[in-house]
Amino acid sequence: MTEQPATGASERRNLADAGLTRAVAASFDSTPDPRLRAVLQALVRHLHAFASEVELTEDEWFAGIRFLTRTGHKCDDKRQEFVMASDVLGLSMLVIGINHRHPTGATESTVFGPFFVEGSRAFENGDDLANGAPGIPCHVRGVVRSVTGDPIPGAHLEIWQADEDGRYDVQYEGLDEPRGRGHLHADDQGRYSFWTVHPAAYPIPTDGPVGELLEAARRSPMRPAHIHFMVTAPGYQTLITHVFDEADEHLDTDAVFGVRSSLVATFHRHDGGAGPDGRQMSDAWSSLEFDLVLARD
Ligand code: BEZ
Ligand code: FE
Repeated sequence: MTEQPATGASERRNLADAGLTRAVAASFDSTPDPRLRAVLQALVRHLHAFASEVELTEDEWFAGIRFLTRTGHKCDDKRQEFVMASDVLGLSMLVIGINHRHPTGATESTVFGPFFVEGSRAFENGDDLANGAPGIPCHVRGVVRSVTGDPIPGAHLEIWQADEDGRYDVQYEGLDEPRGRGHLHADDQGRYSFWTVHPAAYPIPTDGPVGELLEAARRSPMRPAHIHFMVTAPGYQTLITHVFDEADEHLDTDAVFGVRSSLVATFHRHDGGAGPDGRQMSDAWSSLEFDLVLARD
């Protein structure tokens, strides 16, 4: 291969292979923002290296363009197919890992997912967030604290989850009330508690290009059962995480690579009796205790 110089605009001719890559990277040399320049130049190098490594055919290049086009067409204010593509390619967890190297002891972060809804209903500690969602009752409690063990009074918790059929409220047509979601504040000792329903495993939405990708690769779309938390408090980093049910069979095949061992917890199963708050239970229910540990800003 003939070595070609990295050229300016006037010499941008007859470029191929490594010379083309160098010329395209150099075309961003005058980008004033140094971070943007570095990101764009690395993107060019890695994109070209990828195409060269697999010797990308023109049909494959166009299949990629069509995949991205269909992914964009699938997005609306309730559905973010690009984020799901990032999730199933492990990019979301890679970025989370790079940006959340918490000090030891803080609760680990995991994917946000597409089912969070802004402006959730406010609850008090001890309330029932299920609001009619199908499933066996589940009592959840714990303490929001710092890595040094200090409780964080008044911490704000957003909670959302799927029901026993593995569906979020936003996946039902015509529900007029939110179910299995809400927010509340930790009390003056950092304690939080609520009732909900026992979460179930579910497939991520597969009726779009991401589903076709998983099908083509014979990959499972399943996510292990979990409850989502987003916890905020002044002076602390926002924590976006889940708590997974240790009894779930999908923990080691999560479609989005979101499982951390430290986020897997025991949901204790009970058959009737009194709940932790004295509520008399006539049928099966479950309970979970999980402390949420925040890193300082
Ligand atoms: C979720 O946990 O809600 C989720 C995360 C990534 C993709 C789809 C769903
Ligand atoms: Fe989820």
